Amino acid sequence: MPAEAEHIHPPAPTRSAYDLVVIGAGVIGLSCAWRAAQAGLSVLVFERDAPGAGATGVAAGMLAPITEADFGEEALLELNLRGRGLWGGFAAELEELTGMASGYADGGALVVAADRDDREELHRLHDFQRRLGLDATWLTTRECRALEPGLAPRVGGAILAPQDGQVNPRAVVRALTAALRSAGGELICAAEVTSLETAGGRVTGVRADGDRSAAASAVLVAAGAWSNGGGLASGCGAPALRPVKGQLLELRVRRGHLPPAERLIRTPRCYIVTRGGSGEGAAGHRVVIGATMEEQGFDTSVTAEGVFGLLEAAREVLPEVGELELLSARAGLRPSTPDNAPAIGRGGPDGLLWATGHHRNGVLLAPLTARLIVDLLRGGPTPPELHAFDPDRFDSLRVV
Ligand code: GLY
Repeated sequence: MPAEAEHIHPPAPTRSAYDLVVIGAGVIGLSCAWRAAQAGLSVLVFERDAPGAGATGVAAGMLAPITEADFGEEALLELNLRGRGLWGGFAAELEELTGMASGYADGGALVVAADRDDREELHRLHDFQRRLGLDATWLTTRECRALEPGLAPRVGGAILAPQDGQVNPRAVVRALTAALRSAGGELICAAEVTSLETAGGRVTGVRADGDRSAAASAVLVAAGAWSNGGGLASGCGAPALRPVKGQLLELRVRRGHLPPAERLIRTPRCYIVTRGGSGEGAAGHRVVIGATMEEQGFDTSVTAEGVFGLLEAAREVLPEVGELELLSARAGLRPSTPDNAPAIGRGGPDGLLWATGHHRNGVLLAPLTARLIVDLLRGGPTPPELHAFDPDRFDSLRVV
């Protein structure tokens, strides 16, 4: 069925019962579904919109645990570093299986100080990174401009994190969708799960709109910021979540011009990701500038303030950004828990699992989340490193 027709008339599940039903076809849900199908489980994914239509489709695709390391988030950093370590193999396997690009690149990142205040802040961050034994080097203005000549002469130095990288989330979603289907998994789009079915304290399946239902031995909720809404909100132990809006710009490098930077560039106010060139088709280089952090509920409007702030922040370190063609401005909603760390694991009735709340780290943590979820689906115990990310840890804030 052509994709458009599929959207208007979502097909019905081909079986009456599955080993696993996944709610949500973002990068987390699709990664878990693909790995579960590869492990031999019968898998059905329900997606309320289209694959990657939520936060994934707006994400910049940073694989940057070192660049994004933050004070007080050491347990999360540990998880993020493990997640980063899996991406090279995950992308290579996905590309080989599907023949599709993922935009994976491991060229490193620079955290740039635009002025004196930034330099003080980044020196503190660099001290913290070094105390944790992370691969991060302080570069002088001259050294960082030698690596990235497009940086403004005024920059006050930078931290080089050579192990950070990037991927193109929309390309990854296309490849994951193909990989899931070739592993025998099913995906039904434009079908919102309206309730979980339970019996005797365990989950037995889901009901979706259009009167679709599917029995399942296990259900995984990976619906991003919508993971505790609607039919999932009551009586199933949904973790506390809030949407954190991020506005993001996409720009195009003019034909015959070089992009303003090769590496991922971050400042305390924005990040700049260059995509394209080799491996991503003939579209040429694109530059993605992100992202705001706003708490305004489920609002995805793009604001003049958001766009202006991002362009100003990017142009102060990379003046050539002003020459690029502005293609789009979009906003997505990060799913965020009270401690901004993900909720991964069992929770609520038996057979129900959660992979949500990834906040700023959904793309980065997708391969690792999938591995951990498949281990749990195989009946393994909750590994000690997941205790800090237990979906039940916000019991007192639980949605009832
Ligand atoms: N990881 C970048 C962001 O969430 O904006």
